[in-house]
Amino acid sequence: MLQVDRLRHRGDASPNPDQPIGRVVSVRGSQATVGLLRSPLDSSNEARSTVGKFLGIRAGQSLLVGVITNVSIETPPLAKELGCHSTADLDLMGEIKQSATAAVQFQRGVTEYPAIGDPVFAVSAGELRLVFNVASGSVIEIGHLQQDSTIGAYVDVDDMLSKHFAVLGTTGVGKSSAVVLMLHEILRARPELRIFVLDAHNEYGRLFGDKALVLNPRNLRLPFWLFSFEEMVDVLFGARPGTEDEVHILAEAIPRAKATYTTYRGPTERAAVKRNDQRSIGYSVDTPVPYRLADLVGLLDERMGKLENRSSRMIYHRLITRIESVCNDPRYAFMFENANVGGDTMAEVLGQLFRLPPNGKPITVMQLAGFPSEVVDAVVSVICRMAFDLGLWSEGAAPLLLVCEEAHRYTAADRSVGFGPTRRSISRIAKEGRKHGVFLGLVSQRPAELDATIISQCSTLFAMRMTNDRDQAILRSAVSDGAASLLDFLPSLGTGEVFAFGEGGALPTRVKLKQLPAQLLPMSDVESSARGDLGAGIDEEFIGAVLKRWRGASTSQHNTLDEGTREARTNDPPARLSAPPLQPAHPADPARGGLLKRPLGDRLNIAKAFQAPPQAKRWHDN
Ligand SMILES: Nc1ncnc2c1ncn2[C@@H]1O[C@H](COP(=O)(O)OP(=O)(O)OP(=O)(O)O)[C@@H](O)[C@H]1O
Ligand SMILES: [Mg+2]
Repeated sequence: MLQVDRLRHRGDASPNPDQPIGRVVSVRGSQATVGLLRSPLDSSNEARSTVGKFLGIRAGQSLLVGVITNVSIETPPLAKELGCHSTADLDLMGEIKQSATAAVQFQRGVTEYPAIGDPVFAVSAGELRLVFNVASGSVIEIGHLQQDSTIGAYVDVDDMLSKHFAVLGTTGVGKSSAVVLMLHEILRARPELRIFVLDAHNEYGRLFGDKALVLNPRNLRLPFWLFSFEEMVDVLFGARPGTEDEVHILAEAIPRAKATYTTYRGPTERAAVKRNDQRSIGYSVDTPVPYRLADLVGLLDERMGKLENRSSRMIYHRLITRIESVCNDPRYAFMFENANVGGDTMAEVLGQLFRLPPNGKPITVMQLAGFPSEVVDAVVSVICRMAFDLGLWSEGAAPLLLVCEEAHRYTAADRSVGFGPTRRSISRIAKEGRKHGVFLGLVSQRPAELDATIISQCSTLFAMRMTNDRDQAILRSAVSDGAASLLDFLPSLGTGEVFAFGEGGALPTRVKLKQLPAQLLPMSDVESSARGDLGAGIDEEFIGAVLKRWRGASTSQHNTLDEGTREARTNDPPARLSAPPLQPAHPADPARGGLLKRPLGDRLNIAKAFQAPPQAKRWHDN
């Protein structure tokens, strides 16, 4: 008996595993049609040859393993003469054969093609186990085969991470649950890995216990000087038209503010720096070195004072007002707190964001839902850019997995959608991150809206239920031909079921993911409190609290910076408060806000200079 055959008998409950259940009747490339000898009306479980099940074809010394993609009672007359009652189309995926080292192994791809008349067998549990038990050391178990719940579904962590992965599927099919499950398993298999989750809906905050640092606008400190020029322009101007002159002035002023900050020792030196021309400043507009907003606005103010032309002065004035209004907005406190204190906190910021050292919390969950919507793109861009640069400059010493929920928002296929720098940062990680220990995990419910070049860099795809044709077409182009016919199953997958394609998984097959306990299910804070309150009813206090959050996230009119942050902090749940501030706790800066909320006299002077009405013109009145 061949060793391959001996395997047939291991763990097999079927009455006679040596008995062929069919014969090959036609072969086309990696597809074969087999005539099934058993009656399709036989209802015993072993005889149920239907789509998604595996069959084995004995071809020479190997057993070719294929998945049924189509069954039909239509049988060619010649096959009928051989005793066949129905036919099944198979996609051949790989073969079990005896290797040179005498061990029986499964390998992907087909080297020995079947011939007409070759016997076909039901694949035994022992054979399935051989196919799906990935041999390498670092595997994670994500669930079990839908076909046989005794056989675990494994993914190779190194393959999955190093060449990026994506979890795709319609809303509510269990993508986020799959991510939670995988992250828990990945942490077990690769404890040295650090994970950064861009949590678009604030669902992950409570799922990793004390292993995660949860960041939100209340405890994040991401100093404005870490933003690149494009990111800063996005924060200040958004997509407002007609701001080119202001952007140009800002581009000149920022390097000067940086130089002023680093060389500022006294009035004489400061004057010397200001006289310097652009080339001798030594900083580009993007160099990540600190500067003070006071210096930036001071420079703009000084330049404005020297101008004769009224309309030019107006441009400077508008820019200063714009900077002031953003800085005074409590929603932007995470960027502009201590804006006039200075201090190079970059090491602290990076260390904390990317868990260096992890201090028992290798995961960062960045809750994006509380950030002003107009600034989320820029924040994501800063994070992705710094994650890549940190990997680059540290030569991949501290590997990082960046998980991006709702990835289609940041890397849209339509180039006019989304923020260019965010797309560039993510696609840079997708293309080169592997070499620098920065890995990407994308999650999206709209694969068709994702940039195809970024999907094509993800070599492990977890496809969940998906009904939209365009979404399926994107996947079809991303997976190999052999696996493409499996995509026909996608609309019929259940919640928590997944097809894993690509490097990380063994063969693409229908996997039932592990069931997550209720406390590990991703759920937004609002959703979980709503569920908790079921039966308790929604009272006025609840609505009041909702309104407070709503207004807090969308208005800046009634709060000063200090009131806003103080109030937010006292409302913080204790777990969130555990995050230490990113910037050292400076004593309250008497100058902070002093510059931005300048003395009334100053404002009146500006107003006089323009001979405009006493009320300063705001950018949003334009
Ligand atoms: N592995 C699982 N274990 C237990 N329940 C699950 C699992 N996967 C999905 N579910 C159920 O399905 C629901 C939706 O799952 P989930 O929030 O992960 O979907 P999603 O695809 O991320 O949705 P969305 O697109 O809206 O973000 C969960 O609340 C849970 O009830
Ligand atoms: Mg989700």
